Amino acid sequence: MRGAPRSASGTTNSGPADTIPGAPPPLRPACRATPRDEAFVGREHELGVLDTLLAQVRTDGARIALVRGAPGIGKTALVRRFLDDHPHLTAVRGSGDEGEATISYALVDQLFGSMGLGGGALLAHIERVLPVEEPIVVGRLILAALIRSSVAGPVVVVVDDAHWADVDSLRALLFAVRRLGAYPVLTILVVPPDEARLPAGLGRLAEGHTGITVEVGRLKPTDVQALAAAATGSPVPGLVAHRLCAHTLGNPRHVLALLMETPADHWQGWEPVLPAPGCSAG
Ligand SMILES: Nc1ncnc2c1ncn2[C@@H]1O[C@H](COP(=O)(O)OP(=O)(O)OP(=O)(O)O)[C@@H](O)[C@H]1O
Ligand SMILES: [Mg+2]
Repeated sequence: MRGAPRSASGTTNSGPADTIPGAPPPLRPACRATPRDEAFVGREHELGVLDTLLAQVRTDGARIALVRGAPGIGKTALVRRFLDDHPHLTAVRGSGDEGEATISYALVDQLFGSMGLGGGALLAHIERVLPVEEPIVVGRLILAALIRSSVAGPVVVVVDDAHWADVDSLRALLFAVRRLGAYPVLTILVVPPDEARLPAGLGRLAEGHTGITVEVGRLKPTDVQALAAAATGSPVPGLVAHRLCAHTLGNPRHVLALLMETPADHWQGWEPVLPAPGCSAG
């Protein structure tokens, strides 16, 4: 299990004070608090990669990371943990949702809200109300807001489930990210293995010299053992953890589902009969 939070990296807690042009004043401070996940296990390598990228952001400027992996493998948990490890960063967060994928600027609305800017609410609208070049217009607003926020210290923009974000927002974000240059902004896009809905430009940025793709794979058996022990409240034999890991392909969502669906004493034996986790059965 990953231990106590690592040292924060001395960044300034920077709440953006300005508004986007023509927008109402900030409504609330930047949103970055997440509940600590005490049972978080493993992922030292992936977190190390993100830490290295953050170090580059501090010294060399904007970077982008694609965090990619199968459903339930722990992408959201990984990014949450990364942010928890760096509580002094300014975090700007939003997420795609299947139900909002066709609503123009639904994601930008969230991002501006996360930055304390109320103007985003005016953008998210099912009608097209902006000029033809709207992604550029909105992209400029995002760029200006991120630059202002980054004056006080590094900013991390997180878009979870980016494949479900509306295309206009993603294009506007791409416009901004491509122009951040030396400003200390780390953009993290969380996607499944098949992220065909993402604008190609964002993928290309992640593959370029200012980007990286973090593949989130299976948990190791020792991680599954730690997760199982934390979830059941008692030690789980190594062989059982190995079987559980193989049975679930190291997918923490499936591990947790099985653990919840099965009586705790079941896990103390050497050869438990393992059902399919409810979330994947049927
Ligand atoms: N490293 C970990 N340690 C402990 N629990 C974890 C870890 N990774 C994921 N989990 C747990 O497993 C479940 C699934 O994780 P998560 O939601 O992060 O997956 P995901 O890859 O984001 O899934 P989706 O693609 O559906 O969004 C959650 O309950 C989460 O708390
Ligand atoms: Mg997720």
